[in-house]
Amino acid sequence: MKFNITFSISILAALIGASKSLQLNVTAISARDGSSTFECWQVGHPFTRLGAPGRVDAMLGGVSTVSYGVRPANHDAGVHNAPGNQWVAVIGLAYFTLPGDNTTGAYVSSGKSSVIFAADTAEVSRTGHRTQYPGDTETIVLHIPTHDGKVPEHSVLHMGPCGFNDLAGIREFGQEVMSTIPEQAKVEAQDGTMFPFRLW
Ligand SMILES: *[C@@H]1O[C@H](CO)[C@@H](O)[C@H](O)[C@H]1NC(C)=O
Ligand SMILES: *[C@@H]1O[C@H](CO)[C@@H](O)[C@H](O)[C@H]1NC(C)=O
Repeated sequence: MKFNITFSISILAALIGASKSLQLNVTAISARDGSSTFECWQVGHPFTRLGAPGRVDAMLGGVSTVSYGVRPANHDAGVHNAPGNQWVAVIGLAYFTLPGDNTTGAYVSSGKSSVIFAADTAEVSRTGHRTQYPGDTETIVLHIPTHDGKVPEHSVLHMGPCGFNDLAGIREFGQEVMSTIPEQAKVEAQDGTMFPFRLW
């Protein structure tokens, strides 16, 4: 018993310690030398534990409005600039590419990496980016401009979209917390396909 209590406390301490410095990484569509780029940014305030067990939250800063967009299945929205500096949440599937650069692309779908930041406005990028919605069903897109129209403070982890390793902290938190919360608070896992879309 004593061992169990000590063990739980040390896991909790480890979680609190780890979440203090853990920061969100998001794929950004940014620009360099007048051309749009993909970059992996570390943004926002570090994740903190505010509420019930099994939750960490990160503050991302002020925003102005939010719009709810519906995009049809198998739709090519073409090449465009970001209309302003904004967060974009993809609920469904979007595929972003850069005109004239066939070496990179970013699939963004519901889940851990569904939020990106779009910053390739016409002031900084001549090229823009292309957005396609290759899903077999409609995709919902939330556009959330920053309150001051500026790019939030960030550090650039690397060029190119965020990858598997850039989500390590989120995966680890999920796994660690499952071992500390009571059995009845868990949701039973469901088997079955998780992908309502076809990958090209
Ligand atoms: C990518 O673009 C280069 C240069 O335009 C071209 O030579 C190459 O064949 C292209 N590759 C693919 C896979 O389309
Ligand atoms: C962000 O990226 C760094 C470096 O790749 C990683 O250590 C960290 O866990 C990531 N953060 C999250 C929340 O996954």
